[in-house]
Amino acid sequence: MSAIESVLQERRVFPPPAAMTASASVPGMDAYLALVAEAERDYEGFWARLARETLTWKTPFTKVLDESNAPFYTWFEDGELNASYNSLDRHVEAGNGERVAVIFEADDGAVTPVTYSDLLGRVCRFANALKKRGIKKGDRVVIYMPMSIEGIVAMQACARIGATHSVVFGGFSSKSLNERLVDVGATALVTSDEQMRGGKALPLKSIADEALAMGGCEAVKSVIVYRRTGGKVAWDEGRDLWMHEVVANEPDTCVPEWVGAEHPLFILYTSGSTGKPKGVQHSTGGFLLWAAQTMKWTFDWKPTDIFWCTADIGWITGHSYITYGPLAMGGTQVVFEGVPTYPNAGRFWDMIARHKVNVFYTAPTAIRSLIKAAEADAKVHPKSYDLSSLRILGTVGEPINPEAWVWYHENVGGARCPIVDTWWQTETGGHMITPLPGATPLVPGSCTLPLPGITAAIVDETGQDVPNGQGGILVVKRPWPSMIRTIWGDPERFKKSYYPEELGGKLYLAGDGSVRDKETGYFTIMGRIDDVLNVSGHRLGTMEIESALVANPLVAEAAVVGRPDDTTGEAVVAFVVLKRARPQGDEAVKLANELRAWVGKEIGPIAKPKDIRFGENLPKTRSGKIMRRLLRSLAKGEAITQDVSTLENPAILEQLGESA
Ligand code: WTA
Repeated sequence: MSAIESVLQERRVFPPPAAMTASASVPGMDAYLALVAEAERDYEGFWARLARETLTWKTPFTKVLDESNAPFYTWFEDGELNASYNSLDRHVEAGNGERVAVIFEADDGAVTPVTYSDLLGRVCRFANALKKRGIKKGDRVVIYMPMSIEGIVAMQACARIGATHSVVFGGFSSKSLNERLVDVGATALVTSDEQMRGGKALPLKSIADEALAMGGCEAVKSVIVYRRTGGKVAWDEGRDLWMHEVVANEPDTCVPEWVGAEHPLFILYTSGSTGKPKGVQHSTGGFLLWAAQTMKWTFDWKPTDIFWCTADIGWITGHSYITYGPLAMGGTQVVFEGVPTYPNAGRFWDMIARHKVNVFYTAPTAIRSLIKAAEADAKVHPKSYDLSSLRILGTVGEPINPEAWVWYHENVGGARCPIVDTWWQTETGGHMITPLPGATPLVPGSCTLPLPGITAAIVDETGQDVPNGQGGILVVKRPWPSMIRTIWGDPERFKKSYYPEELGGKLYLAGDGSVRDKETGYFTIMGRIDDVLNVSGHRLGTMEIESALVANPLVAEAAVVGRPDDTTGEAVVAFVVLKRARPQGDEAVKLANELRAWVGKEIGPIAKPKDIRFGENLPKTRSGKIMRRLLRSLAKGEAITQDVSTLENPAILEQLGESA
């Protein structure tokens, strides 16, 4: 069943629980509409109010939005603040130093609570250590770390001294890490000896060594290593330093570096439809405002809440809803090192029960894989755990199919917890379209309505609004504080990718297709309209995978498309032409495995094609363009309805229909 068909079949509406509405930060639809109206009436005044109420400023801003250099918008530009001060010091100064900031649970189940005072001390010590190594405001520091307290400390320490961090997900290969180190011009790298996931140790330091040896990143003078496992590592004296040694004699205070609101807090690489991954640059003031504000609105954050976002700090969700949002609010959160299926597929439910988690935020892929496990084994079914502490559930990263939504609602949320299906992107910095738990009636599979102040709309190819009920291109009409500022080092690409002339140059192009419901105006996201795939909620460019494949000496040509997948949302299917004869049988299987491993090395295991098809050629039009629609049909195993009369060798369709 397609996503749209299943949305159409599930038309039940789930109103917010009355008790939730009574105590919510946005108590009901009237309150929501009042905020929307406030933003419409006085756009800048609305954002200025939130920025004053939610953040602590060293120097108050007098300007709000500056559109004079559109689309390079600035927000709160003459205000000064520090993200680490807002995340830590202000809570300690308010007398909440003994509140637990992070409940860290390791892969093996060991639990370490860290208070706000502790965390502040650790961040200051590491910030001082970075300064001693000559790292200063404006420098870029790459962080290639496991999920850990130390990872959060490293990010916050950069923010404290005004260095811009660029976190690279620990699952990326040495080549991907090298490309990011080079592109961002890093002067330091923070990593760890190994990372533990599902009982297995993965050698981060040796991958980092490989990345550095590939060259182009000679500016990296210090490599600071967190000792996670004590596993053996190679050591470059003079360059490599142990984290515990560099912080040992540092004082636990460090005056924050006050920065302008537009100062780049971080650069995070993400995949686009063309070329290499792009470094999405975020500001300090606007980003932090929205990370904190959406904690309040979307997650109805309360000081007593235990919040748990299962994302990795290597992705935007981990930036906004682990490192910054929950800490900026002074909240308590669970941070988890491991994977949902270790030691068994009940791990999430067990952790929710043990830590009495109130707000739980995860990805549809995780839910779908846990449904399968729960149905096969009652011991790991959420009903076997006491999940009564939960009050709100959330999802992010990809569309959630209504079947998975209903299962999550009934079995995890006990039919009592609203689900916030949050649509947003690396570029948006925080939630954009999402239900509010005390206000919005829920429809499974729909992310419902834009947050107050967010002017999301659906337009056609020329930028004209389309009526509700008619699908189109998802855009945002007005700039918002937490939006991407530019692509690091490539402002032209920023303009072209996000403010294309075809749409008039004034609309932010999200890259997703969407439709609004005729009656409710609710948004449903239909997936990417460009060549970006979404596999288990991870963004991958088809071009990146194609480039990785053709870099293999055996490969002459490759084309990559996505195919719907029950668990991962989409799966990568690669069509490959070798420089030698088309392999068959066992040889094809062997070569397919080789190519998979190759892509794993080039990009990272998340990009490995699930399905590889070998052909003597690829289907092309007369002008030589690869017929991707045809490939998508072949990938799905659909009957070919397109006109294929222009194909030189129709026999290749049969070849490409067969998986290796
Ligand atoms: C998709 C992740 C449907 C979408 C925060 C978007 C979603 C891309 C949802 C961004 C959702 C994210 N429903 N699709 N609730 N949330 N997406 O940059 O295609 O890793 O463009 O940011 O994920 O992925 P990114």
